[in-house]
Amino acid sequence: MVSLTDESPRIGKLVASHEYTQPDIAVRDVADRFFKTTELDALALVEDKTPVGLVTRPKFFMTVFRRYGFELYGRKPIITIADTKPLIVHEGERLDVAIDQALSRPPQDIYDDIVVADDSGVYAGLLSVKQMVVQQSTALANSILQKEIVNAKAKELERMSGLKSQFISHVTHELRSPVNAIIGLSELIQMACEKGYMDQLKDRLAILMSSATNLRAIVTNILDLSKIEAGKMEVIVERFNLGAILGESAETTRVLIGNKPVRVEVVLRDESVLMASDPIKVRQILTNLLSNAAKFTEKGRIIVSAAVQGDKAVIAVKDTGIGIKEQDLEKLFVAFSQLEDPLTRRHEGTGLGLNITQNLVKMLGGSISVSSRFGKGTEFEVRLPLEYHGKE
Ligand SMILES: Nc1ncnc2c1ncn2[C@@H]1O[C@H](COP(=O)(O)OP(=O)(O)OP(=O)(O)O)[C@@H](O)[C@H]1O
Ligand SMILES: [Mg+2]
Repeated sequence: MVSLTDESPRIGKLVASHEYTQPDIAVRDVADRFFKTTELDALALVEDKTPVGLVTRPKFFMTVFRRYGFELYGRKPIITIADTKPLIVHEGERLDVAIDQALSRPPQDIYDDIVVADDSGVYAGLLSVKQMVVQQSTALANSILQKEIVNAKAKELERMSGLKSQFISHVTHELRSPVNAIIGLSELIQMACEKGYMDQLKDRLAILMSSATNLRAIVTNILDLSKIEAGKMEVIVERFNLGAILGESAETTRVLIGNKPVRVEVVLRDESVLMASDPIKVRQILTNLLSNAAKFTEKGRIIVSAAVQGDKAVIAVKDTGIGIKEQDLEKLFVAFSQLEDPLTRRHEGTGLGLNITQNLVKMLGGSISVSSRFGKGTEFEVRLPLEYHGKE
């Protein structure tokens, strides 16, 4: 059984041949027509617009040669050797139903064309079984594909909207906690100042600083990604020394590490790495990679290095932190994605850092790669053209 689908086309629309002849025409003339027109596979016999018979090429030749012989065939009317009960199907019939009817004929007739007629039984054309099957397969494939596409889109949308709402609630939470901390601590500091408890102020100030920095990072990320998405991020080229930016970023990282036993080292393989690029973006790339290293490393070292290789600056940020599982590596750069980390606490952040970093690197015409061993550590490598020539 051919499956019935509502989308199945109507056969009237698929008719490709309207070939016919009168039933009383001589077999010889029909033979001439078959000889002359090699692509003619079948002829309907039509009398007063009504189909009364069918001759198909293979059956025609088989019949005339076997039954009548070459001498005799010419004089007989074609109707005498035609199939006078061909399958006649209404033009409004569904293709799948028509195929079912065609295939339920006796084996010797299965591959005969079907005759298509309209409401008043007027001959409307011929349709071969091959044509019908090809059409039906195409219709089926299209409808499967269509459903797949619709499903894939729905799934993707579901996934994206899931990620987005997760992201929004996460951001709302992330925004609220530093704001609460900043307000609460400011009040405390004010009180402390009034009452003269200056000693306690130092510790509180450190917390206040880190909360404010965190808040600024989140807001910057959201604004940056919005700018990137809107294509409004511009590259402003300046000449600068990469070494200086490395030094400053390392300092900030030390602040982020706080009192975890993690050393931050700067390795400059060349005395100076002079670049003509966008220093703010380079700094942001470094800050993002280093803040991750600081966040995901509990003990050991973070090494940030720079070297010149040909016309490229090669920057590497290597840590001895929690590492990333191989199957998670490809998810890293996807916006809103934070890897589940059941062993340690869930870390702060919006999951935008690496997506932005990758965008910035591309904007400067460079590339970024990562290698990691779960539980051992991670290394990000960024290659940037020393001289900015536009996006790649
Ligand atoms: N150096 C690293 N070591 C281990 N895991 C990392 C490292 N860098 C990134 N990851 C993993 O990749 C995820 C995505 O990093 P990304 O910087 O995009 O987001 P985030 O740091 O969680 O948040 P944000 O940067 O927006 O504050 C992290 O949540 C973490 O699971
Ligand atoms: Mg990050």
